[in-house]
Amino acid sequence: MEFKNINTMRQLNNGVKIPCVGYGTFRTPEEVAEQAVADAIELGYRHIDTAAVYGNETAVGKGIKDSGINRKELFVTSKLWNTERGYESTKQALQDSLDRLGLDYLDLYLIHWPANEKQFGDDAKRLNAETWRAMEELYHEGKIRAIGLSNFLPHHVADLMETAEIKPMVDQIEVHPGWPHTEEVKKLQSMDLLVEAWAPLGGQGSSVLTNPTLKEIAEDHGKTVAQVCLRWVLQQGVLPLPKSVHVKRMQQNMDFFDFELSNDEMKQISALRDLGGQCANPDDVDF
Ligand code: A2P
Repeated sequence: MEFKNINTMRQLNNGVKIPCVGYGTFRTPEEVAEQAVADAIELGYRHIDTAAVYGNETAVGKGIKDSGINRKELFVTSKLWNTERGYESTKQALQDSLDRLGLDYLDLYLIHWPANEKQFGDDAKRLNAETWRAMEELYHEGKIRAIGLSNFLPHHVADLMETAEIKPMVDQIEVHPGWPHTEEVKKLQSMDLLVEAWAPLGGQGSSVLTNPTLKEIAEDHGKTVAQVCLRWVLQQGVLPLPKSVHVKRMQQNMDFFDFELSNDEMKQISALRDLGGQCANPDDVDF
């Protein structure tokens, strides 16, 4: 597919359309988020990604209101935090997110992390299935236009599919040079999920942005390293969610549609290791 700009639409497996780049808000403090989100929307971002655990949903919602943009023109995602898993609490958590955001529906709601065996033993699968059942009901009720997952590896998705009635539409995982998740991305895409990349630039204080290989490729194209990272994500069919609170960087992170990375450059970037990010294994986390 040809991507023309950040709002080229992609289609989820339920037919819902989603702009091919989202504006990330992880680590954007509550006191900054209102202005940052309003700035991003003014610049042209129409897809905003937040989560209950980011602690900024109220400010993100205010930024959306300040923008004056019709709600229908925006695509808003939030995520269910780990302490709220389970049937009843998932339903309450969505309502709490909607109340904080000041919205009456979400475009996309994600389970933020799978319950893992390390913490929940044999109960992990049952807990994820129960949470998903609530997500399915909320979807049927029209409170969310699409439902999905975050940090689920292909084997977690396969487990979920044993009881799911609705196939997840999205899986948002950590993807950036140095932590490419190449095999997982391919597997998830083959399962008909749209893969989104969190920390596409490697996250806060990232060593991705100073990597010599990336710098050289960026110079060859007359672009910045951040733009090369976003292009590399996009060319894999993955949807990047770059975060910045600075207008100049927000602009830069929209401007990567006028060049293409060669197969060789894509391979060189995918081969990089140990750069940036959290590089957390969802089977191993204890939160
Ligand atoms: P800031 O918000 O101060 O601009 P992610 O990989 O999660 O998108 O994280 C991006 C990190 O890199 C953030 O800490 C952000 O900080 C910074 N950043 C975002 N865009 C750019 C850019 N174009 N150039 C340099 N740093 C950037």
